[in-house]
Amino acid sequence: MAKIAIIGTGYVGLASAVGFAHLGHDVVGIDIDKSKVEKLTSGKSPIFEKDVEIYLAQSLAKNKIIFSSDYSDMKDCDFVFMCLPTPQNDDGSADINYILDSAKTLTNQLKENATLVIKSTVPVNTWKKVTEILNRTDVSIISNPEFLREGTALEDFFNPDRIVVGGISEEKAHLVADLYKSKDAVIVFTDNTSAEIIKYASNSFLAIKLSFVNEIAAYAESTDANALEVLNAMGLDKRIGKDFLKPGPGWGGMCFPKDVSALKESAREKNVPIPLLDAALESNLKAHARIVSKVKKALGGSLKDKNISVWGLAFKANTDDIRFSPAISVIELLISEGAQIKAFDPVVKQVKELAIEVKSEIIQSVENADAIVVLTEWQEFKLVEPSLIDKLVKQKIVVDARNLLDKEKWINSGFMFIGNGYN
Ligand code: UGA
Repeated sequence: MAKIAIIGTGYVGLASAVGFAHLGHDVVGIDIDKSKVEKLTSGKSPIFEKDVEIYLAQSLAKNKIIFSSDYSDMKDCDFVFMCLPTPQNDDGSADINYILDSAKTLTNQLKENATLVIKSTVPVNTWKKVTEILNRTDVSIISNPEFLREGTALEDFFNPDRIVVGGISEEKAHLVADLYKSKDAVIVFTDNTSAEIIKYASNSFLAIKLSFVNEIAAYAESTDANALEVLNAMGLDKRIGKDFLKPGPGWGGMCFPKDVSALKESAREKNVPIPLLDAALESNLKAHARIVSKVKKALGGSLKDKNISVWGLAFKANTDDIRFSPAISVIELLISEGAQIKAFDPVVKQVKELAIEVKSEIIQSVENADAIVVLTEWQEFKLVEPSLIDKLVKQKIVVDARNLLDKEKWINSGFMFIGNGYN
C-alpha cells in the first residue's frame, strides 16, 4: 500500500482521495480551505456526489484517510497528486497559478524521490513549468489526467475506460498506474505533453460531437425527419459510437466550455488555430437559443410576462453543479425576453445570480405556468403525472429539451408536447 497525498479536495481531488483510500492506500487530503478540511474530517462531503460520503465514512473509520491544511502533513507521502483548479482567464486560456503556487510550496515539502502527479486539466507544457519551479532532480513528474464525470465520479474512478500516464521515468509511470489496481482499464503510457493534450482533445472532441448532434436536431426539425431516429442509426456505426448522441439545450459544466476555450487559445498561441472549436462554441450558443425559440413559438411569438416552469437547473442530472449550466443560459435568455421563471431542481435549491423563484416542490413551479420547459434530464421528472397538474397550469404546453418525458402520456392529458429534434 502506498502513501498518497491529494492536493485540492474539490470534485476530482475528493473522488480520487476516497477512491485511493478505498483501494487500501493511506491518503492525506490537503486543502487550504480549513472549513472544508473540518467538514471532511467529520465525514461530511462538501459536494453532492454519489457514494462519496459512504466511502469517506468507511475510510475515516479505518484510519485510511485524513484531511489537513498543512502541507507538512504529506511529508512522508511517496505520491503527491495535484488536483487543483485551472479556471478560465478572460481570454479563454487556462489559469495555472494554483498549480504553480502549489509547486513552489512543494519544493521544500516533497519526500526524497517522491513522484508528483499532475491530475488537474492543464495546458500543454505545464509539466515543464512545474519541473522548473520544483527544481528537484530526485522528483519525477507524471501527467495523469482525470476522466471523472460529475455524478459518476467514483464509478469512473474504479472502472475507467483508460488510464493515461505520461512521464519520463518508466518505472515511476508504472508505479502510478499500479496505484489504481485496475484489472480492465487500458493503461496508456506516454510522454507528459501527449498526456496533457489527450485530456483537452478528448473533452473537445466530445463537445464538438454534441454540437453536431444539436445541429442535426435543428436540421431535422426543419424537415419531417426525426433526429432521434437519425442519431440512433448513426450510433450503430461502431466508428461513431452510441454514446453522447442525445440532443439537449447545449453542453455545459465546469469542463467542456473551459477545456474547449483553453485548447482553442493554446492552439491559437501556437499558430495552429482549430476553427472547429470556435464553431462548436458558437453552435452551443445556438443550441440554448433554439430551445428559447421553441418556447416562444409555442406561446404565439412572445415571452413577455409569460410564466415559465423550468424543470432542472444543474448542467446535467445527478449533480448539484450549475456552473456553465445550459439550463442557466436558457433561463437568462427567457428572462431577457420578458418571461418570469419558477424553477424546480431536485438538488439545486437556489441560484443567487438570477431573479427567479426556485421552488421546493415541483408542483409549486407549475402553478399558473404558460409552459413547462425541461432542461435537465433528472429521472424523477418522468414520475410526474400530467393528469395531476393539468388543472394547475395556465396553458398545457411542455417543451422537453432533453427528450426525457413520456410524450404519449402528456399528449393524452391534453398537453401540446414539443420535443427536441423532431416536429
Ligand atoms: C466531462 C467528461 O465527460 C469527463 O470525461 C471529464 O473528466 C470531465 O468532463 C472533466 O474534464 O473533468 P462532465 O463535465 O462531468 O465530464 O460531464 P458530461 O457527463 O461529460 O456532460 C457534459 C455535458 O454534455 C452536460 O451538459 C450534458 O448534459 C451534455 N450531454 C452529454 C448532452 O447534452 N448529450 C449527451 O448525449 C451527453
